[in-house]
Amino acid sequence: LPLAIYSDRANSRGVEFGDRLQLASLVAGMERSAGTVEAGPLAPGLKPGGPAQEVRSPSDPSKIVGTVRFTDPKDVDKAVTTALQGFKSWSRADPDARAAALVRAADLIEDRRDRFMALLSTEAGKTLDDGIAEIREAVDFLRYYAARSRQMFGAMQPMPGPTGEDNRLGWRGRGVFVCISPWNFPMAIFLGQVSAALAAGNTVIAKPAEQTPLIAHEVINLLHEAGVPKDVLLCLPGEGDVGAALTSHPKIGGVAFTGSTETARAINRTLAAKDGPIVPFIAETGGLNAMIVDATALAEQVADDVVMSAFRSAGQRCSALRLLFVQEDVADQMIEMIEGAARELKLGDPSQPSTDIGPVIDQDQRDMLAAHVTTISKSQKLVYAGSAPNEGLFFAPHIVELKDAAALDREIFGPILHVVRYKAKKFDSVLDAIDATGFGLTLGVHSRIEATVRKVIDRLDTGNVYVNRNIIGAVVGTQPFGGSGLSGTGFKAGGPHYLMRFAVEQAVSVNT
Ligand code: NAD
Ligand code: ALA
Repeated sequence: LPLAIYSDRANSRGVEFGDRLQLASLVAGMERSAGTVEAGPLAPGLKPGGPAQEVRSPSDPSKIVGTVRFTDPKDVDKAVTTALQGFKSWSRADPDARAAALVRAADLIEDRRDRFMALLSTEAGKTLDDGIAEIREAVDFLRYYAARSRQMFGAMQPMPGPTGEDNRLGWRGRGVFVCISPWNFPMAIFLGQVSAALAAGNTVIAKPAEQTPLIAHEVINLLHEAGVPKDVLLCLPGEGDVGAALTSHPKIGGVAFTGSTETARAINRTLAAKDGPIVPFIAETGGLNAMIVDATALAEQVADDVVMSAFRSAGQRCSALRLLFVQEDVADQMIEMIEGAARELKLGDPSQPSTDIGPVIDQDQRDMLAAHVTTISKSQKLVYAGSAPNEGLFFAPHIVELKDAAALDREIFGPILHVVRYKAKKFDSVLDAIDATGFGLTLGVHSRIEATVRKVIDRLDTGNVYVNRNIIGAVVGTQPFGGSGLSGTGFKAGGPHYLMRFAVEQAVSVNT
């Protein structure tokens, strides 16, 4: 597991894998703290929402995790009015007090780790190691943005210069920030966006993914308990229509979105067409992520890193490996080792310590993956098809060998690895193929030749490049995360500049 540097308390109280006693106590704690959630809009004065819909566990759809009432899109205007009212006090509050509320929320999450682990497992199908990593990341975001906001939003910065006046530059919030998030990191990414926007002095209307409203509901309640006022942080569960109503509202101050490139384009069009001020759009989107393995790479390490990058979290990470380029001379050996390692993976109940891979999020996702395998197998070679349990929404790892990288022209969000062989003398064509995807989120290079590594880094603009390791699990504050091109707008989440997009600068010049 990556060690999270900001969540010291999480680390000291955290669970390390391999420690059976700690794992057993974690599982017992999850069972004790499991319980259904009744979610709905969290916004002062708003109706309780539409009819209660059951939320079922993807690993066992007979299990009801809770219910949710989606927001009526017509209520969005009322929510924006409330959040505008809240902005008056929150934006002028002491930045230290805002940061302190976020730090209190981090402490509360650590105290309630087992409860969130249980929800991550049942609602989102997270395995134990993915659940722990997600909670650590959520806590890290809270602590990191709190610390960063204290630096940025404290006293105004004196500016040098010849005018003979007192010139100062400072930052302040933009207004009502709409935060729209995906289901695959229902806690970490959800909280990452929300905490950044709050830390920068904005009020927030969060629109969590329709698949994971219960975790979002508990997180928002926890932030209220930590001291963020209810008219400063609102949550409107719902489908894309609620997101569309929010992003088209003339009085919002900005949008932070994480999700597919397709939805980002739709939001971009909505923002361009709407009335009101021109607002910033922070989009963190998909990837068609590649790894290059040359003949000098260490085979065992490659197998380990490829399996981790392509199949962990059932491949449901934006950072996951989709396209593996292997030098022809070592390709047979590498593919055999990767297939061997994939065969060892255990799919099943995500709350069990022996499980490596949990379910995919819903039936639509499973159908999409099955359809992709059927279609691509007609023209390309299906190397390996794992088997999945019959009960629950599972999809086993697959490996497909492509004749040409162009056969994969979109992000396939699941545990399907596509492999392409390349000749050493055609190395440049590998870089061209990666460039031609238009995405730029994560990239891996396995090579012991420094010049090769340097050439890859120089040629490609990919946001996060990993050398001789796996390509997932960026650590907040240490590996700022986010892509370029079709993968996102920047700045990077968990990085020193992220808060800037959520804020405006103000310069004050006083004739002394
Ligand atoms: P999605 O685009 O389908 O949905 C994301 C969110 O957008 C949901 O809350 C959804 O309800 C909302 N939405 C849908 N239509 C909308 C509209 N017209 N206006 C406003 N909001 C709308 O994505 P998903 O399936 O939830 O998540 C998976 C995708 O997210 C993948 O493409 C993955 O790569 C990407 N992702 C990117 C990152 C990153 O940091 N770059 C991280 C995680 C996931
Ligand atoms: N930040 C997540 C990762 O790096 C998406 O895997």
